Amino acid sequence: MPIQWFPGHMHSTKKAIVERIPDIDVVIEMLDARLPGSSANPLLAELTQHKPGLKILNKQDLADPDATEAWLAHYQAMPGTRAIALDAGDTAPARRLIAACRELAPLRGGMVKPLRVLICGIPNVGKSTLINTLVGQRKTRTGDEPGITKLEQKIVLADDFYLFDTPGMLWPRIIVEESGYNLAASGGIGRNAYDEQEVALELLARVREPYADRLAARYKLDAAQLDARQTPVDALLLAIGRRRGGLKAGGQVDLQKAAEAVINDFRAGAWGRITLETPQQFEQWLAAAQQREAEREAERKAKRDRRSGKRRTAEDDADAS
Ligand code: G4P
Repeated sequence: MPIQWFPGHMHSTKKAIVERIPDIDVVIEMLDARLPGSSANPLLAELTQHKPGLKILNKQDLADPDATEAWLAHYQAMPGTRAIALDAGDTAPARRLIAACRELAPLRGGMVKPLRVLICGIPNVGKSTLINTLVGQRKTRTGDEPGITKLEQKIVLADDFYLFDTPGMLWPRIIVEESGYNLAASGGIGRNAYDEQEVALELLARVREPYADRLAARYKLDAAQLDARQTPVDALLLAIGRRRGGLKAGGQVDLQKAAEAVINDFRAGAWGRITLETPQQFEQWLAAAQQREAEREAERKAKRDRRSGKRRTAEDDADAS
């Protein structure tokens, strides 16, 4: 079943961004380097009126370096966009971040025209960790910025460089089904919104081919078990459960425990550095999802038209009698 998640506080966050945006020169969007497309927020482009944007691919320490390179190139090729990859262990993220933002707004800077940057990201992407690193490192002033919302934080990264952090979160309707699963696997969605077994099966289906060697090494599986033509994905989960010793009374594999083990291993980086989507894959998923949405909307419209047509006919009949 497709995954949906609405964590709340959306309205106030949206309002805070809309109110702040006229003063902003550059918008930073933090993404999860393991799933950059799926962790992006399409609503943001709309709200930020296509201001110059810096994409930060965070958690690069967990992502496949080749895939991260491909995603960076993908974003760098977009107009008005720069991209850098970071991780929590990065000791000097501020310098790179400031340099990239200055490149995006070369006419800003200096005490008269300080550069004003807004930072956004979906929950769990690592925004607090990065801000803490920036604040700790630069011994910056932080505090409430009056006016917009009490909780908006203004972080002074240099005399002429202000970083604004909006409170709450912004979560779009997930139209790409694959994104729902990737977000759930990475820990970006609340636990109650998905079924672990379903997510583990999708995750295994996604990684079994490109990262077969990693799964083979971690769970002592052979080539036939990892080959989708020879072993269905639920049989693969069963085999992993057997290896991980998650057995119920009677010796049956505990599929729930096996699913949790798979998800936890992925999150902890126990398979090595893995990325769940390439730019091309994500574009295909998105195009297919948008087409499905358009078809659904056309069906809904046809139904509405039929209903109002019927109503009109009934009214005409009533008028005639
Ligand atoms: P948020 O504000 O965007 O919601 O995210 P937050 O900074 O709270 O980070 C969410 C989780 O991701 C934290 O783990 C954090 O340590 C981890 N994290 C953030 N950046 C990176 C990174 O670059 N690499 C890796 N490997 N992990 C990162 P947690 O388990 O929820 O908490 P903690 O106990 O580790 O602090």
